[in-house]
Amino acid sequence: MTLGDHTGGQLRRLCEVAGLSADDAGSYARLLVDVLGPVADRPLTMPPPNRTFLSDDHTPVEFSLSFRPDADPTVRVLVEPGCGADHLLEAGRVGLAQVQAMARRWGFSTAPLDEVGDLFLPDTPQGALALWCALELPPGGVPRVKVYLDPAASGAEHSGATLREALRRLGHLRAFESLPEADGYPFFALDLGEWSEPRAKVYLRHEGLTAGRLGPLVRCAGGGEERAMVEFFRAASGIEEPDAGLTGRPGLSCHAFTDAGSAGPSGFTLHVPVRDYAPHDSEALARAEGVLRDQGIDGDPLARALGALTPRRPEDGVGLIAYLALAHQRGRTPRVTAYVSSEAYAVTPPTERASLAAAAG
Ligand code: TRP
Repeated sequence: MTLGDHTGGQLRRLCEVAGLSADDAGSYARLLVDVLGPVADRPLTMPPPNRTFLSDDHTPVEFSLSFRPDADPTVRVLVEPGCGADHLLEAGRVGLAQVQAMARRWGFSTAPLDEVGDLFLPDTPQGALALWCALELPPGGVPRVKVYLDPAASGAEHSGATLREALRRLGHLRAFESLPEADGYPFFALDLGEWSEPRAKVYLRHEGLTAGRLGPLVRCAGGGEERAMVEFFRAASGIEEPDAGLTGRPGLSCHAFTDAGSAGPSGFTLHVPVRDYAPHDSEALARAEGVLRDQGIDGDPLARALGALTPRRPEDGVGLIAYLALAHQRGRTPRVTAYVSSEAYAVTPPTERASLAAAAG
């Protein structure tokens, strides 16, 4: 079994669970293998291609299912195309070449990426990643492409300035000033291709996040909906007290900018790393189902998705569900996303994280 067989098979089954045709599922699985490149042929008995933090066990692939009421979930896959490279510069080149190849294949423009490429893919890159690529997989076989970049690429101390300049070049002149305080900027992301409203997104890290501190984050994003975010935070983290916080992996907020000229973001997403706050995936799944139910969404496809990824029982490990997220985008119904792991290389045993959760509680 190779990395490509394993992750391609998972994606194909996931697509079928989400209601895509066998044709679409097959072509998306082949696309994933293409984007992985030569590392797809590595047998799983070899170690992971690099130490990527894309997933906990260093699989360079992570899946997600995005849910809205009354619709099939959307399948997405996050992949590190340069994971076979032995330094960041080369990883960036490989990643960029893959994005450009997809742009030629489906005839979309890479203009926003070209605009900011020198900031995030400089000649002497720093930071934790070069380029990740996420593919949203709608029916029809044509993916929507998102690119993830590292604001620390031109130096961690310049992360803020790098983001400010990138947003400015994209026409979001006052966007950076509209962001709330943060403990770091892990990612900058761009939608490329046929999106109805392409976004530039800034991800913020929040150490020790509590329900009580959510208000200002949500308000900076221009949104009421504060109650819904607080309820989501509680349901996903299992933390009930307003002053108790995420003492393991931090929460992330994502601020999406769509209209150049407007001062503030048009979208806000809260990401909770549920795997650090649940003893095992059976509990993480129950939390996810609760969150989905609160939004009037049927949780059944998620349980079936886990079965499509692995034969192991949810209670026998933790991290199959990595994050839960609630997204509010102006003019749309709220969206719940579950990020689910490949576990190509390792499963985290339940007990380890149970003690972390106890420490958090
Ligand atoms: N694995 C990394 C993390 O836990 C990056 C990452 C992968 C991530 N998927 C994500 C971050 C989804 C937020 C949401 O931070």
